[in-house]
Amino acid sequence: MAFDLPDLPYAHDALAAHGMSKETLEYHHDLHHKAYVDNGNKLISGTEWEGKSLEEIIKGTYDAGAVAQSGIFNNISQLWNHNQFWEMMSPNSGAMPGELEKAIVDSFGSVDEFKSQFSAAGAGQFGSGWAWLVKDTDGGLKVTKTENGVNPLCFGQTALLGCDVWEHSYYIDYRNKRPAYLTNFLDNLVNWENVASRM
Ligand code: FE2
Repeated sequence: MAFDLPDLPYAHDALAAHGMSKETLEYHHDLHHKAYVDNGNKLISGTEWEGKSLEEIIKGTYDAGAVAQSGIFNNISQLWNHNQFWEMMSPNSGAMPGELEKAIVDSFGSVDEFKSQFSAAGAGQFGSGWAWLVKDTDGGLKVTKTENGVNPLCFGQTALLGCDVWEHSYYIDYRNKRPAYLTNFLDNLVNWENVASRM
């Protein structure tokens, strides 16, 4: 069975007042995410990966030693990354649930320190990629950054929060100001209930 492009969990204009425009979501979800779905389906068709889950394909095709990843990995991992990304944002960002705040303070010392490390990871990712808050294999929380479509599943980690730092995610609204996009993401867009539910 082919993979589908999931609908956004909110209207295209729902995040506009919170720093992500309708135009960005129209391009990012309707064109970029859709392209990963269409290309991913095309590339796995007739291969050993047809009928496997996104997670199985990502873990099975990630090559830790490769400079560049395969087309199947790139498209299927980006399909999964964007499925998570839309769910990780909300027009009602809300307060951080207590259990999540406690885990963040335990691992980073403070919420501000976590935000600062997360922003630095996103701003410091050279070229396209993602900034992540992950639950590591030892159970602790950690901030990481990955290139292109690589994600925490590749390292056996749980993705709690991810921020897309490909230019297509911020250029319409922020032009070249990736740090401003990251600050707004953390302050106004994150669905903290969703992040907590992933722990
Ligand atoms: Fe993206």
